[in-house]
Amino acid sequence: ATARRGRDCGILKIGEIRATDLVERFGSPLYVVDEDVARQRARSTREALQREFARVGAEATVYYAGKAFLCVETARWMADEGLNLDVASGGELAVVLAAGVEPGRIGFHGNNKSEAEIARAVDAGVGTIVLDSEQEIDRVAAAAAAAGVRQRVRLRVNSGVHASTHDYLATSHEDQKFGLPLERTVELGTRIAAHGSLELLGLHCHIGSQIFATDGFRESARRLLGVYRELGEAVGAPIPELNLGGGYGIAYTSADVDQVPAIEGIARELADIVAETCVEAGIAIPRLAFEPGRLIIGPAGVTLYTVGTTKAVRLSGSDAGGDPADLGYAERLYVSVDGGMGDNPRPALYGADYQVRLANRRSAADPALVRVVGRHCESGDIVVNRDVLPGDVAPGDLLAVAATGAYCWSLSSNYNYVPRPPVVAIRDGEARTIVRGETEDDLLARSVIPERSSNTTDH
Ligand code: LLP
Repeated sequence: ATARRGRDCGILKIGEIRATDLVERFGSPLYVVDEDVARQRARSTREALQREFARVGAEATVYYAGKAFLCVETARWMADEGLNLDVASGGELAVVLAAGVEPGRIGFHGNNKSEAEIARAVDAGVGTIVLDSEQEIDRVAAAAAAAGVRQRVRLRVNSGVHASTHDYLATSHEDQKFGLPLERTVELGTRIAAHGSLELLGLHCHIGSQIFATDGFRESARRLLGVYRELGEAVGAPIPELNLGGGYGIAYTSADVDQVPAIEGIARELADIVAETCVEAGIAIPRLAFEPGRLIIGPAGVTLYTVGTTKAVRLSGSDAGGDPADLGYAERLYVSVDGGMGDNPRPALYGADYQVRLANRRSAADPALVRVVGRHCESGDIVVNRDVLPGDVAPGDLLAVAATGAYCWSLSSNYNYVPRPPVVAIRDGEARTIVRGETEDDLLARSVIPERSSNTTDH
């Protein structure tokens, strides 16, 4: 987000609004999304991909991967900026439909969609359904036949590319659950193309998420084009589209900044490799599709927390041994905030790194080595594993954690019955709630509370 420090008092501003004012008005903790940044990133990502593929004579469609952060507002922003919407469940589909997105602009993913979800998607007129298993070919065909429509589908294949990212974020090595083996593409694609109620729009592959090394994207595209050509020959007509998924990494810490590849460069490389491979194979370049999520919304988010307690822990030689950079510090200051793994489970799930800044004042105190931790009952409840803050950080101070726009709210929980914070969007210097926070009533609303019958009170 466009966060910057006011020249006068050291108060962090997000989209021109002071962090202190935001918390005063909306409470703490608080998810803040800079709508201008999210829209600008959506637009520039779409334009970069479309421009580079236009250069080689091909069209490109960009889907926003809703799983990164989806609510009615973000769905509308993305549709406004000319993106289509990718959903991965009936729930995400319901949100995008509620946002008024034209159903033809929706792509529906998932490795185990229920029959009810498939029927709903077909009935709603969803643009494409991604087939991720043999069973799904028949299920979607049956739903389409029942609705009397020809449903557009994509076949998700696994290109076998090993993306270098966290194991849980890689989706295209052989031994995982997504996609069908590359070598079965022709057989399954032919089966789909022969179904009267299915229309094979294209092939799909997504190799993983938070990826910095772009060679995996290129290699996956090359492999996909190989089976794309074979399938076209087998069915006697070119397949219209190739969907290369998303997965483009963003910077979470200053150490990441130099490693993050710009989407313009990725788009250029992909357009070149697709064009070269098609020319070599003597085939026309298909229409391309992409599904970035994190790249668009991740950097647009900041989470604000309030410090509740601090605790200094002496670092003995072995404790400090983990990170050589800790060696200069005699102690680590544990700074507990009013949120944690409930609003951002990524450090606990993936060991994800973030950075923290003091957001409510300037301080000249010496830096202290800190670990920002949450309020939940787990020692893995870490918000920022390792950073420095002014040593006088104290209860009541406001902390800002950047790049929390993707996979934070969407992965959030109310573990320990901690209510989820609201999400506030900032546009043109104005802040407004786009997802309200949970209340204690919300937390209790789903507990079934049996009436106490009168005779049980006799004991
Ligand atoms: N397309 C498909 C088929 C996907 O499975 C995903 C992400 C995307 C697109 C978007 O990927 P992105 O551009 O956002 O990297 N919870 C994890 C990330 C899981 C990603 C799941 N699939 C995290 O917090 O890092």
